[in-house]
Amino acid sequence: MIDFNPHSKTLQDDPYATYRAMRDEAPVMHVPGLGFWAVSRYADVQTALREPETFSSRRSLDSDDGLSNVPMIVIMDPPRHGELRSLLSRAFTPRRVDEFAKRIREISIELIEQFIEAGSCDLWRDFSAPLPTIVIAELLGVPPEDREMFKEKSTALVKMVGPGMDMDPAALESSSNPVMELAGYLASIFDEKRKNPTDDLMGALLAAEVNGKRLDQAELVGFAVLLLIAGNETTTNLISNAAVLLDQHPDQRAYMFEDPARIETAVDEFLRFESPVQGLERIVTQELTLGGEKLKRGDKVFLMVGAANRDERVIENPDEFNIRRTPNPHLAFGWGGHFCLGANLARMETRIAFEEIAKRLPEYHVSAPTERLYSGAFRGLLSVPIEFKS
Ligand code: HEM
Repeated sequence: MIDFNPHSKTLQDDPYATYRAMRDEAPVMHVPGLGFWAVSRYADVQTALREPETFSSRRSLDSDDGLSNVPMIVIMDPPRHGELRSLLSRAFTPRRVDEFAKRIREISIELIEQFIEAGSCDLWRDFSAPLPTIVIAELLGVPPEDREMFKEKSTALVKMVGPGMDMDPAALESSSNPVMELAGYLASIFDEKRKNPTDDLMGALLAAEVNGKRLDQAELVGFAVLLLIAGNETTTNLISNAAVLLDQHPDQRAYMFEDPARIETAVDEFLRFESPVQGLERIVTQELTLGGEKLKRGDKVFLMVGAANRDERVIENPDEFNIRRTPNPHLAFGWGGHFCLGANLARMETRIAFEEIAKRLPEYHVSAPTERLYSGAFRGLLSVPIEFKS
């Protein structure tokens, strides 16, 4: 029996040998203590992500979509999921994201300016943590001075999640839960914007209609909370993970920095090799067979994106980090109906971040041990000390 506990720090320090053993020996494995099935092969993860009728995103089959107080599309099923998602994708168009490129570059440069003279910094604290937080705060239209608070709440939440960590609904909806704290804060900003309309994403959400109806306050807050959390932690982790990988592979870093047009392809390899989202939860809605195992209604599955992205059945030499890799059909942004709505934004932020690093500190090196973010579902860091010639 393979010992797999996604919450174990030992596993999180280096999960890939365990992931391989699972794919080879127990691709759909029941994890008794935590009460879910771990799904590690690419094909099985993709099948489940493609079939929302049989693999529900809801937290419980007995409850309505989402949390009652903070409905978020990521934990909804069709048809409501589709209606609300199309609204968000209309508000969050590629044009809006493209227009933001200039601003992302300005923010990146401002952040680098603050530490470049020192010759050293913590790349997490000074760059990869603040950049996505400022970007999403500005896109949404919330005061950037409150960003430390968003980061704190989203990091607190990320540490609490993962399969088998279901909290009872009372705890989830209690006012001291980080989600509820963010929700209360965002509700007051929506109230303000109702009186004084603004031309930002929150303003667009306030004006938007689904089937001729405006969103109610809970739905508005659900969107904003989801965007703040989703737009924050994952992109921070992608940039931090990538910075460390490039330090470990100086030849590839030199090749990438030689021609910044190469960064775009490299970003997919960062996403695949150290996937910021390691797994997604679903609930089985009817009896079915997956990977030779019989699953019944109500069973929980953990779709191990991080393991699927290293599956040699689909990816050649999956344990080799190769920024030239094409095609690179990773599942780091999910697949199917819930595919990440912020994928373009995350790619753009990461590309611009490394373009600016290439200009100002191309030969940085990690100068002390990094600190891992321990989370059952996310893969990232909390500290990346670096030194460079200023
Ligand atoms: C590296 C960065 C990111 C990664 C790895 C990532 C990953 C993912 C994944 C795996 C999903 C699918 C969830 C599921 O199927 O249950 C998802 C959904 C989502 N992401 Fe991202 N994400 C990133 C950045 C962002 C950003 C920057 C935003 C917004 C500003 C964003 C907004 C969303 C939203 C709204 C959803 C829900 C879509 C739905 O349920 O239909 N993400 N993301």
